[in-house]
Amino acid sequence: MSLPTYNFVSRFRISIHPNQSQYTEKQWSLLTNYSRHSDSGHQHPRVKTGSALAKAGLKKIVLKKVMSSLQRTPTLPPGTKPLDNQVAGHQNTEGKIGCLLHEDGTILKPVQCPPKGQREVEFYQELFSEQKSDDKVLLQLRDLVPKFHGLVHSPKESDARFMKLENLLLDMKHPCVLDIKMGRKTYDPQASQEKMALEIAKFPPAQNIGYQISGMQTYSPSTGKSQKFDKYFCKNLNEETIVFKGFGKFFSLDGVLQKEVIKAVIVRLKEILEWFNKQRTFHFFASSILIVFDGDVNSPLSSKSPTSSAGLKGSVADNCCNGDTDSIIENDFSDVISSDFVDSVTDGQSESVHPKVQVRMIDFAHVYHMPEEDENYVFGLKHLIDDLHRLLNS
Ligand SMILES: Nc1ncnc2c1ncn2[C@@H]1O[C@H](COP(=O)(O)OP(=O)(O)O)[C@@H](O)[C@H]1O
Ligand SMILES: [Mg+2]
Repeated sequence: MSLPTYNFVSRFRISIHPNQSQYTEKQWSLLTNYSRHSDSGHQHPRVKTGSALAKAGLKKIVLKKVMSSLQRTPTLPPGTKPLDNQVAGHQNTEGKIGCLLHEDGTILKPVQCPPKGQREVEFYQELFSEQKSDDKVLLQLRDLVPKFHGLVHSPKESDARFMKLENLLLDMKHPCVLDIKMGRKTYDPQASQEKMALEIAKFPPAQNIGYQISGMQTYSPSTGKSQKFDKYFCKNLNEETIVFKGFGKFFSLDGVLQKEVIKAVIVRLKEILEWFNKQRTFHFFASSILIVFDGDVNSPLSSKSPTSSAGLKGSVADNCCNGDTDSIIENDFSDVISSDFVDSVTDGQSESVHPKVQVRMIDFAHVYHMPEEDENYVFGLKHLIDDLHRLLNS
């Protein structure tokens, strides 16, 4: 007999070793009921059942384990599970909820506590307002961020709200994910001296290059395994190693640099830069650019499918996770990357072709209205583009 586990949310499984023989029948039944209760998500019988367990004479240590497991068990909105491919930010650990994957293929991002959460919600609401906007620059920004599908309230925990966002990993079988935090300043105008010092100390080279890697996930086709690199790996990089060890690792599949992917990413970054050159509305602090490509070397491409303004989006699969698609369509990048640009970045050789590339701005918890150029972001973006060119030409 094993303890009941969560059907959907396996990461939040209660981790008591199910060795029944060490408990009396009553203790065992209390323990299993305890986890079954929380499994159903209908109630949190923390106190009531906790004291029942104590009364039944269970050792303190077991009790502690059960209690802390339950405290680590947030109730997720129905039809969601933690986003396995999340590489940075507030993650699904230690009783906290991070980004969730909804069964309809969207991402639910928890609204953070005020003022950060409110700022991000208002940013998305302003951008995706249904009222007709004549503001072309604002409309162009819609293509540079994940689509916003409104707010979702958790039926169980009334104070938990989520932003329903387009999933940038949709249709990718083995997503390689890179989160780059932009700007020399990653603290906003309201930050305290302590917060400023803390942010600067996180990655001092950002003062020179204007960006930093917050986390990434790579994929190896030969082993079939993905690997995550957390903030501690990223912290140990510097101005040079961030390019060749950081990006070099990210853009490689089994050691082969995916030059087509890098070119596609640069095209998209240039579009973002163009937008920043025009806009005088927003300043983005501690915001990221999320770069994603499919590490599945056999992945088919539909370059003729509906495209984003960068034209790089593959066909949108009905199912986001299984990646099962049988059709093989000839991959052709020629109509999605300007030929001038290709000439300027290639030596005419294409080592590999990886069609599914997404590059979007994310994380708007520190966005401010400011009527001047966001030179903090632009500085980092130009540097990032230059550094990717260096990698491409290495
Ligand atoms: N729309 C999205 N599609 C896919 N992954 C996403 C999306 N939004 C966020 N993520 C994942 O979640 C991580 C954290 O997102 P972010 O918006 O930066 O949250 P936080 O405010 O916690 O930093 C990203 O690094 C990325 O891995
Ligand atoms: Mg973030």
